[in-house]
Amino acid sequence: MNIVMVASECTPFFKTGGLADVIGSLPRFLTNRGHKLSVFLPKHSSLSPEITDQLQFIGSFDVWVRWRKQYCGLFVYQLEDVRYYFIDNEYYFKRASLYGEFDDAERYTFFSHAIFSALDYINLKPDILHCHDWQTGLIPAYIRTNPDLNDIKTVFTIHNLKYQGIFPLSIFDELLHFDSIHHAGLEMNGAINFMKTALVHSDWVTTVSPTYASEMMSSHYGEGLEQLLLQRETSITGIVNGIDEDIYHPSTDLHIPITYYQQPERKSENKYYMQKELDLPVDRHIPMFILISRLVEEKGLSLLLSILDHLLTTESIQVVIMGTGEQYFEEAFQSVSNRHPSAFRFIGEFNEGLARRLYAASDFFLMPSRFEPCGLSQLIALRYESVPIVRETGGLKDTIQSFNEYTKEGNGFTFTNYNVNDLWHTIHYAISQYHHPDNWQKILENVYESKLSWHDSAIEYEHVYSHLSSANNEEDE
Ligand code: GLC
Repeated sequence: MNIVMVASECTPFFKTGGLADVIGSLPRFLTNRGHKLSVFLPKHSSLSPEITDQLQFIGSFDVWVRWRKQYCGLFVYQLEDVRYYFIDNEYYFKRASLYGEFDDAERYTFFSHAIFSALDYINLKPDILHCHDWQTGLIPAYIRTNPDLNDIKTVFTIHNLKYQGIFPLSIFDELLHFDSIHHAGLEMNGAINFMKTALVHSDWVTTVSPTYASEMMSSHYGEGLEQLLLQRETSITGIVNGIDEDIYHPSTDLHIPITYYQQPERKSENKYYMQKELDLPVDRHIPMFILISRLVEEKGLSLLLSILDHLLTTESIQVVIMGTGEQYFEEAFQSVSNRHPSAFRFIGEFNEGLARRLYAASDFFLMPSRFEPCGLSQLIALRYESVPIVRETGGLKDTIQSFNEYTKEGNGFTFTNYNVNDLWHTIHYAISQYHHPDNWQKILENVYESKLSWHDSAIEYEHVYSHLSSANNEEDE
């Protein structure tokens, strides 16, 4: 099939979160299954000069955003079998941030309009247009409301329902190219909502885990969209993300001092080097816990903060937290660091090399999220044989099973309720199992066997695509 994906970020070009990792890896797994994949992205100015130099210019054309006639350049970059197309307009995309600019509605409206002009320009006729997150939410609506485009089937993937792209009603007249009869499909609670628009108009909706797919239909997780999601329940699928196991591979990773694969002794040498690097007491037998995350409330950081001091004084452990985000959390973790200089480090930046060394050095990976559509870090942690401690929500629930010392099953430690006691007991129990050699060995074996690759999930996406395109063929007959 001829599949076009549209998204606002993608590794190795630019990344703010897990969306970029998915767009950077899923298409390649689909090409391995024989599909033709093109990915459309904005040409953000954070693209590295090395890659910018390698882009091939295809051409330029005008794109209308109501009365504004805007320049649009189109570039292409081939990476393995996937073609990445970049939509260029410096006024919109030469910015400090990918999102959160005052004119995001206009920037991503331009982007959506530009996709259609670009497809036309290169004469690309996709069977499936697969859009991701609110930045692309208008696209399924343009397809649905334009009879000439009705052959294209649209899939919309929700990576995080919390970010919906909500803008004043006035943008309907100022930016969008829809007839007024379509107003209702775009409007929600007195605003234009890009995510809602996609949920109304796309042929199929997916999200990034089966558990999140059912959670998001409840008021607790639905962010106000639960009723709409419930109404279209039969055309929603939850498909768990994978990771690229070649990129994340402890036996070949150049970032880590001692490569290893299912060799706990060798792995523990990385702990030794990390303790030296961070000037922590050197002892391979102290369990090392890490957390690598955007520092935002939904990641369960408040829970962790409320037990951290107690944990660091009563248990013999080391904890390292890495990430940037809300100032409140950065300051709070910094002050924990000041209070516990021999057991805790806070690294207030994101550094890929150091992140890999932390995964390799650690015994446990903390992820007590309040909600988590999928989560990729717990998968990376499993790949580096660091045992995840997670709350049972979204993709965390689908990828981590709690260790059961009687049946010896489980590749991590989990807790159900979002409360401090449950987290505390889970960490406490995990430490006890770390000091129990037979059980620990069993846990590691279960970690080694965890499924992390895109293989199965790519097949599930393929099923969604085939289902839609066969519906198309039936209509034609
Ligand atoms: C968002 C979600 C995260 C998911 C990622 C990729 O960042 O918060 O859970 O793994 O998208 O789908």
